[in-house]
Amino acid sequence: MPDYTMLAKTLQSLTQGETDTVALMATVACEVHHCDDRFDWTGFYRVTGPEMLKIGPYQGGHGCLQIPFARGVCGAAARTGTVQLVADVDAFPGHIACASSTKSELVIPVYDKAGALIGVFDIDSDQPDAFTQEDADQLTAVLGAIFGGREILD
Ligand code: SME
Repeated sequence: MPDYTMLAKTLQSLTQGETDTVALMATVACEVHHCDDRFDWTGFYRVTGPEMLKIGPYQGGHGCLQIPFARGVCGAAARTGTVQLVADVDAFPGHIACASSTKSELVIPVYDKAGALIGVFDIDSDQPDAFTQEDADQLTAVLGAIFGGREILD
């Protein structure tokens, strides 16, 4: 399990004063990706139009460029506004396999300071059932701090 307190403090330090969303996304994707070997693909899909997500900054193999809200785990997170904690991607109806090696996935909606959905944060793992509720809760708090201006967890 990553040291999420350290991760949050590192991201707070690296992004202090930065308001450019792409720069923030690139930094978060990089730091989260490298903090845990479970994370094989780590990145953002951005809301670019009504019911449409397009790829943003990421780490790992190539990701599909567009995901309508109606499709995939990412679309489900964007459509419902809820975290998708998927232990077995093969059991998720409509899962989009950017890599055949992906076994489990965590997708978290990302909101700005005004509370608008700006995208989703997607982590894939080649390990089955790789993600925990603690991962989901901690990463939700980190994303809320970086993009939503909320206090970082102590
Ligand atoms: N698996 C995601 C698609 C993005 S690739 O994993 C990077 C989905 O089902 O929405």
